[in-house]
Amino acid sequence: MKVLVIGSGGREHALVWKLKKSKKVDKIFCAPGNAGMGKLAKCVNLKVENTKALVDFALRNKIGLTVVGPEVPLAKGIVNEFQRKKLKIFGPTKAAAQLESSKVFSKEFMRKHHIPTAPFKTFTMFAEAVGFCNSAQFPLVIKADGLAAGKGVIIVKNIEEATKALDDIMLSKVFGDAGTQVLIESFIVGQEVSIMAIADGKTIIPLLPSQDHKQAYEGDKGPNTGGMGAYCPTDFVTKDVMTQIMDHVLMPTIHGMAQDGIPFKGVLYAGMMLTEAGPKVLEYNARFGDPETQAVLPLLKTDLAELMLASINQTLGAFPKLNWQQGSSACITIASKGYPGRYKKGMPIKGLHDFKEENCFVFHAGTALKDRKWVTNGGRVLGITGIDKNLRLALNRAYKGVERIKFNGVMYRKDIGFRVLKPTKGKV
Ligand SMILES: Nc1ncnc2c1ncn2[C@@H]1O[C@H](COP(=O)(O)OP(=O)(O)O)[C@@H](O)[C@H]1O
Ligand SMILES: [Mg+2]
Repeated sequence: MKVLVIGSGGREHALVWKLKKSKKVDKIFCAPGNAGMGKLAKCVNLKVENTKALVDFALRNKIGLTVVGPEVPLAKGIVNEFQRKKLKIFGPTKAAAQLESSKVFSKEFMRKHHIPTAPFKTFTMFAEAVGFCNSAQFPLVIKADGLAAGKGVIIVKNIEEATKALDDIMLSKVFGDAGTQVLIESFIVGQEVSIMAIADGKTIIPLLPSQDHKQAYEGDKGPNTGGMGAYCPTDFVTKDVMTQIMDHVLMPTIHGMAQDGIPFKGVLYAGMMLTEAGPKVLEYNARFGDPETQAVLPLLKTDLAELMLASINQTLGAFPKLNWQQGSSACITIASKGYPGRYKKGMPIKGLHDFKEENCFVFHAGTALKDRKWVTNGGRVLGITGIDKNLRLALNRAYKGVERIKFNGVMYRKDIGFRVLKPTKGKV
């Protein structure tokens, strides 16, 4: 079978890498892909938003499975267009992808189906939103309704900050139409974890839980980024917590969507806050997380192509139990100095051509080949995943890999996994 992966980041490299191991898969295309996956997939120069060209490509090349990485094409309805041409595509329809593409939709869905989440109100009028904040208790969380590339959520500590955030979103429209509606939520505290699960509209199978590190600098300081590292599994999600998440979040979500006439297929990613009052949903994503995917997939032994086809064919109910490698994984993001603000591109990268480290994998995100030499080409440049018996050893392996990579302005966090690791007492 021929496979098409849509997207160009570290997540897509990990998807390509894992799909390549499938007995079912002969050839992989990636649109537009990146130079780092060149040995595994043929990169096709098509934009992720160019649905028509992607459909034509899939038809012409007899693609047996298409996998969508990022949220934007899902929100635009790429799955509907592929389905119209009887092409097999893994992911939710436009309507189902609203769980991610509209925060108002997802919060109202959760309220209707009694899925635990922070209390909230929605507003379309600036004055009403400010009026609400005037009599509310801070901190509050203000969220633009639509997709905002991870920038549409602002935590505010007082009325001045709240007014500024609401002004930016609702009047100045810094996120465009994404800010036509806003949510104002109570601030909740706890450990944040990522639960990705595969759904077929009726059945949902969770993958191992992971934890991302969003802030740019050590100790969770600095601006939010696309993700500076992740590890898997996370001890914060005990068996009991996972059962609660399954019973109170994942199953009610899948059943609720089916009941509402918009069955959800693909990856349901629940961003969870583990609060004292139990796990609560912060948000849903309708696709694989980045960099969580680069941490989770290296531990999965089950054939990913078969799992995705079972989602498409609605046969997950009969799918064998997922098979996982024992132990842990850790993925460290190597970024360019300045990221997530301004950074330089085109810095020559040393250590990639001859990279060799056992149980350590390199996933490219922002790299390019220039005169057959690797150079940086983005904010997040590489993700290095190590796997081993436990988290500490997996981290050691990943950081050994990271230290082999050198370029001008290398930036990475040295404390991935810090929230769960206890202080070392002697040796590991
Ligand atoms: N109700 C809340 N209480 C506390 N923190 C929150 C709340 N909602 C969101 N956050 C924080 O803001 C981040 C971004 O919010 P999220 O809803 O995940 O939006 P997005 O990922 O689309 O930007 C979360 O990862 C979390 O750290
Ligand atoms: Mg989020």
